[in-house]
Amino acid sequence: MLILGIETSCDETAVAIVEDGKRILSNVVASQVEIHSRYGGVVPEVASRQHLLQIIPTLEQALLEANATWEKIDAIAVTYGPGLVGALMVGVNIAKAIAFAMEIPLYGINHLEGHIYSAWLDDSDPAQSPGFPLICLIASGGHTDLLLMEDHGSYSLLGMTKDDAAGESFDKAARVLGLGYPGGPAIQKVSELLDKADFTESLPRAWMRGSFDFSFSGLKTALLNKARDYGVSYDSPENDAPDQEIITQLASAFQESVVDVLTKKSLDALSETRAKGIILGGGVTANARLREQLRESAVGIPLFIPPPRLCVDNGAMIAAAAYFNSLRRPADVLSLDVIPSLRLG
Ligand code: KG4
Ligand code: ZN
Repeated sequence: MLILGIETSCDETAVAIVEDGKRILSNVVASQVEIHSRYGGVVPEVASRQHLLQIIPTLEQALLEANATWEKIDAIAVTYGPGLVGALMVGVNIAKAIAFAMEIPLYGINHLEGHIYSAWLDDSDPAQSPGFPLICLIASGGHTDLLLMEDHGSYSLLGMTKDDAAGESFDKAARVLGLGYPGGPAIQKVSELLDKADFTESLPRAWMRGSFDFSFSGLKTALLNKARDYGVSYDSPENDAPDQEIITQLASAFQESVVDVLTKKSLDALSETRAKGIILGGGVTANARLREQLRESAVGIPLFIPPPRLCVDNGAMIAAAAYFNSLRRPADVLSLDVIPSLRLG
């Protein structure tokens, strides 16, 4: 079964063609990062317009790279939430038009479920080995959710962020340190300049004891205060050449705090629920330090950590999730609407 997956919930116009929820035939992502970086973050209206401009060329490229024609596509999958309303509407509208014109089924997919199904792409099948239940950590620009996945399509939310999402906190921290947008890759890059043994700075961790919830806004404030103490302030013109060593130290300390909390909470959730493995998804799980620390700490625990290009937003994960949806439920009607605040679990 060939499914064409469309993802336009935020700032990537993405289209992929996936066979049987596993084999990626094409996975094209038209990134808007350069445009939004001028504003220091995603501007919703700019994102919608870029999707409008990019969606047809991205669809054509996905078909070309998969060596497929429209007649070979069995179903259309599209993110219908959560995300930016105008951005979601571009994807959902084109998906409906294709489903209508080609008379093929349409599957509206929860973006968060999409991130989880990146773990099924290529050679893994966590449902077979180790089997359910599984812990899912979704850490992205808009979400930090810990879920228990008891079966395909069956999720319970164990914890979520009470304030900023992990990716949002990386983006805000990078802005404080003058490292640009998106913040996650920028903070990772400067942190790699330093060995752990050379860390001199440390920032707090919000453990939110007794729950699987997260909080990152206190960490952001602590970083801001330390940065000001050291005279690192991109708001005041007299400080236009801050000490690079301080910036590297603060970036590393920030990254360590976020990584420690994400790692420990995921492992605690696994032991408390007696789940059999951990699936990672969302842009923050592309972070090299998080991936390394989890691999080091989760000895003997099956981990599903998609390659970085499948951790960030893409169409393949939407097509993969749709395949497993198609095995258990009917397709959606063509009156499908977007749900910007859609939840999972
Ligand atoms: O999943 P995603 O591509 O889009 C959303 O659904 O939000 O996640 C984007 C977020 C951004 O906040 C970005 O800074 C963060 O993921 N991110 C990273 C890394 N790559 C992307 N955070 C930490 N380390 C990275 N290497
Ligand atoms: Zn995402």
